[in-house]
Amino acid sequence: MTVMTQLILPNDTNHLGDLMGGTLMRWMDMAGAMAAMRHTNTPVVTAAVDHVSFQKGIPLGSMVVLETFVTRVFRTSLEVFIEVYKEDLDGDRVKCNEAFLTFVALDEATRKPIPAPDVLPETPRQKELFDGALRRRELRLVMAGRMKPEEAGDLRKLFGN
Ligand SMILES: CC(C)(COP(=O)(O)OP(=O)(O)OC[C@H]1O[C@@H](n2cnc3c(N)ncnc32)[C@H](O)[C@@H]1OP(=O)(O)O)[C@@H](O)C(=O)NCCC(=O)NCCS
Repeated sequence: MTVMTQLILPNDTNHLGDLMGGTLMRWMDMAGAMAAMRHTNTPVVTAAVDHVSFQKGIPLGSMVVLETFVTRVFRTSLEVFIEVYKEDLDGDRVKCNEAFLTFVALDEATRKPIPAPDVLPETPRQKELFDGALRRRELRLVMAGRMKPEEAGDLRKLFGN
């Protein structure tokens, strides 16, 4: 798990004084990569970023807290869940968005994908995300053209065929 905190400074904002979406996506990528690397103890690359929506603007001077953990390891790839909160000076937090990112573990010398160690979910929330991970994986592989829809068994079960 990785928790990354950033203070929003003028260079991070758009012309309305809110955090730029692209800056937040960069921080999400970094926080997710660190959670993945702490799990695999290898370098990782980002293979996929699932749907990201921006539900609330985050103003200049706020703190942004990105909480990330590995939900499931497939073989060489692993899914990381990221939740983004804005935090004010009283320490009050409001959740702003969340996303799933997929990283691939690489061998440091050859830079080829290598198997990553399994993750064991412990809390009910971790178990829920672990259980849903196969479905999300199938969806992203179908969307990326790396899996045929008819091969996506877990996804098809969800739609009842
Ligand atoms: C991701 C990457 C390592 C995959 O390499 P590859 O030669 O296709 O290797 P493989 O086919 O063995 O795939 C490796 C794993 O990545 C997964 N993967 C590849 N593309 C994926 C995608 N779009 N979404 C989800 N997972 C993906 C595969 O399912 C496989 O997972 P598994 O071993 O757990 O089953 C390669 O495409 C790459 O280096 N991409 C660029 C990464 C990068 O530069 N990221 C920064 C963005 S600019």
